[in-house]
Amino acid sequence: MILIDDKKISSFVSEKVVKSISNKASDAYLQLVNRSGKGNEFLGWLDLPNPEITSGIQNKINSVANRLRSQSEIVVIIGIGGSYLGARAAIEALGNNMMYLNAERGKPAVIYAGNHISEDYLFDLLKLLDKKDYSIVVISKSGTTTEPAIAFRVLKSHCEKKYGKDNSISRIVAITDEKKGALRKLADDEGYDTFVIPDDVGGRFSVLTPVGLLPIAIAGFDIDKLCKGALDMRNICLNDNNPQTNQALKYVIARNSLYSSGYKIELMVNYLPSLVYFTEWWKQLYGESEGKENKGLFPAGVSFSTDLHSMGQYIQQGERHLFETMIWVENSKHEMKVPYDESNIDGLNFLSGKRFNEVNEKAFIGTTLAHLDGGVPIIKLRIPEMNEYYLGQLIYFFEFACAISGYVIDVNPFDQPGVEDYKKNMFAMLNKPGYESLRDELNKRI
Ligand code: PA5
Repeated sequence: MILIDDKKISSFVSEKVVKSISNKASDAYLQLVNRSGKGNEFLGWLDLPNPEITSGIQNKINSVANRLRSQSEIVVIIGIGGSYLGARAAIEALGNNMMYLNAERGKPAVIYAGNHISEDYLFDLLKLLDKKDYSIVVISKSGTTTEPAIAFRVLKSHCEKKYGKDNSISRIVAITDEKKGALRKLADDEGYDTFVIPDDVGGRFSVLTPVGLLPIAIAGFDIDKLCKGALDMRNICLNDNNPQTNQALKYVIARNSLYSSGYKIELMVNYLPSLVYFTEWWKQLYGESEGKENKGLFPAGVSFSTDLHSMGQYIQQGERHLFETMIWVENSKHEMKVPYDESNIDGLNFLSGKRFNEVNEKAFIGTTLAHLDGGVPIIKLRIPEMNEYYLGQLIYFFEFACAISGYVIDVNPFDQPGVEDYKKNMFAMLNKPGYESLRDELNKRI
């Protein structure tokens, strides 16, 4: 089970603040579970996974995933933001760190596109796809998001040239709205297999829908175990409002007590390179849910011990406005020991025979104490190991805590009005019809 340890924040927050935030968190918890808070039309994720709703979908996901796996050395997942990050977070957290080099038909590598606008990236990807068998999963709830839509134009055309239009149909799968949007129409017209993103589930809360589950299954992971972990966490989160036993509530109280005490940045710290994208997923979840109305913790991330050699200086001695949430995975998947070296030129024979995980753990403990001494409060989150079951727990845990945190600071955690501003300007600058006056206004300011 996931465990939160908040003992190392007590010298940074007053009891009065913790009490006041605890009261707010209790109210926020009720708003969420009674579905009476802001944005409550987007609470579909709260019920996921629900075996009654999702088991049929899981069977279809596994069957489509098996087809794509058997015919591909590469599966390209096209999507951005909530239509991309959850899948990548899970696949990298669970996966073989060298998966790109080990890919073969039947065990395809998952590669991403449509999550930026880099021309060179697409060029390089097409060169690779010229030589490999591949399939495409295109994911967009609205169906009109620029980045994935233009990447899909390119990849669809490449796929049809390579395999022929008819044969491409079994190589392209779309995940989108049930009825509306450009991608829904295109997929229905072309006859692609499709999966539905429920109306009441926003992008960043969608990893337990086909948006996350299909790519995760394609990568070869057991989505039934992932859903079981999420379901067990859901049962705890929805039925237990005691912050001592409901770890999500404990996390909410700890992070918001620190926020109220002047710590404005939450640094998610992991000790495994495979968790870098888990942090990216978490950053979107919390940044897009809380960062509005001039409020919200700024979610940032570092990966240790890598970043102790780059960001470590700032964290130890820079401005004191940040705290860390450290994820520690107790057990690694494989065992590796530091070898003995006769010459001992590097003076490191005192480590020989020790497991790398033990060295990493001492780095974790040593860093915790150093950062505490430097004035950085630390919340610790421990999980026994990184497998499908615990990852499922972790996903639901962070989603649930995020929603309550949003209510604690009195914002709607389920909208993202600010994201539209860059899009309007970009469309105006690209001469989209209807944006002429904004274009003229922006041109004067350049
Ligand atoms: O969380 C969100 O709502 C966003 O990050 C969206 O997922 C992202 O903008 C992609 O949108 P769409 O799935 O409509 O292409």
